Amino acid sequence: MLNLISLFLFSTFIFAADQATLNKGRRLYFSNCISCHNRDPNLRGAIGPEIVDAPLEVITAKVMTGKYPHILPDDFIPKRKTKLMRPITKLKNDIPAIYVWVQSMKKKR
Ligand code: HEC
Repeated sequence: MLNLISLFLFSTFIFAADQATLNKGRRLYFSNCISCHNRDPNLRGAIGPEIVDAPLEVITAKVMTGKYPHILPDDFIPKRKTKLMRPITKLKNDIPAIYVWVQSMKKKR
């Protein structure tokens, strides 16, 4: 039941994402992330893994600290055990836009 509620809230969140936010998220992803991650966030990149499975909490921790959160969200398994990513703290206020764009690209598996 709780899962259904979060799914509902999550879809509302995604549908509420307007085109301007999606464009901004895409632009910031392309200018800051694809030196390591794939242009398609469903696929592994040259250095970094695919990022579509990372919840907002994880993408926020990675971008702000370079690290995974100390307590991982339920059902989330980090793709790597390496600690290569560096923080990009100037993106602090833009992480939700990047996240929304990444999720809008997610392929159903
Ligand atoms: C210098 C290369 C580099 C850049 C630039 C980079 N990352 Fe990463 N990222 C990595 C690597 C490598 C990992 C795997 C864990 C580690 O070693 O830190 C990772 C892991 C992640 C993860 C965790 C994925 C998972 O499911 O385990 C997320 C989310 C993420 N990066 C998001 C981003 C975003 C968003 C940006 C751009 C704002 C970005 N990264 C920029 C290298 C990078």
